[in-house]
Amino acid sequence: MSTTIRRAVIPAAGLGSRLLPLTKATPKEMLPVGDRPVIEHTVRELIDSGITDITIVVSGDKSQIQEHFRPNPALVAQLRADGKQAYADAVEEVGELSRRGHITYLYQHGPYGNGTPVLNAARNFGDEPFLVLWPDDVFVADVPRARQLIAAFEQTNAPVLALMPMDPGDSQRYGVPVVKEDLGGGSLRITGLIEKPKPEDAPSHYAAIGGYVLTPGVVDELREQTRRYEENPVGEVYLTDAINAYAAHRAVYGQVIQGRWYDTGGHLAYLTAQFAAALAHPEYGPAMRRLAQDHAGDGTD
Ligand code: G1P
Repeated sequence: MSTTIRRAVIPAAGLGSRLLPLTKATPKEMLPVGDRPVIEHTVRELIDSGITDITIVVSGDKSQIQEHFRPNPALVAQLRADGKQAYADAVEEVGELSRRGHITYLYQHGPYGNGTPVLNAARNFGDEPFLVLWPDDVFVADVPRARQLIAAFEQTNAPVLALMPMDPGDSQRYGVPVVKEDLGGGSLRITGLIEKPKPEDAPSHYAAIGGYVLTPGVVDELREQTRRYEENPVGEVYLTDAINAYAAHRAVYGQVIQGRWYDTGGHLAYLTAQFAAALAHPEYGPAMRRLAQDHAGDGTD
C-alpha cells in the first residue's frame, strides 16, 4: 500500500513514573497488554497502516525494546530443532516486524519533554510529513487509528491530531482541543490545545490522544521551542506548545477516531487495558469472559 506518509516516530524515552514499581526494571513500553508488549501493538498498527520507516526514540536502558524486535535466528533454529514450530513461527514473525517496519533506534541524551524525541527524529525527515504515536495507547479498531489519521491528512494536507470523546471529569489528564469548526465526518478545525484544564475550563469534550500527523512547519516550531529552552532551560519542550504556536497562524485539524481506546499510562488504565485485551483475545477471550462472569459477585462493592 502506498500512502503520502511513510515515516513514524514512537517516543519511548520516558521514565514510566506513573506505573512504578512495575516500571522499575521493565520499560513501560515492554509491559504486556494481552499476549504482546504494548509497543508491539503500536508497531503493528503502523505497519498495518502502510508505514515503512519507524523510528523508536529511546534513552537510558531500553535495550529490552531492541531485543524484543531483533530477529533471533539462533532461537528460531533451536525451537525448530526441538519440534516447537508454533513458538518458532511466533518468534520469527516478531523479528520480521523490524524489517517490515524498517525499525531504527535513536538514542536521546539531554533534556526531555515530549517534543524533544519528536524533533530529534524529525531532523532526518527533510520535508516529509510523518506520524507520531505514543507507545502507551492501545486501539481496537476496524481501521487502525494511524490509517484514520493518514486519511484525514490526505484530505487536509495539514497537521492532524487524533481525538476521542472525553468524559468531562477526565479533562485534567489530557490536552483538550479548542474547536473552531465541525467539518463533519469526525473532522474538526481546531485553533489549539489546552493542556489538562479543570473541567470547568475545558474548551471542548474531546481529548487529544497519543496520535499526530505533523508537518515540517510544526518541526520548525519545535526547533524554535528548543532554541528558547536552550537559552533559558525552564520547564520542558512540549509538542503541544509547538502545535499551538503553529496553529496561531495556520490550519490544524483534529480527527475523531473510530474505535476503542485504552490508555495504559496509569495503574487503573493499565489494568483496564489488560482486562479488555484478555476479553477481546481471539483464542483466550471466551475463557476470560467466563472467568469474569464467575467472579462478577466477588468483592464487597
Ligand atoms: C500528552 C499530551 C496530551 C495528550 C496526552 C495523551 O500528555 O501532552 O495533550 O492528551 O499525551 O496521552 P502526557 O500524558 O504525556 O502528560
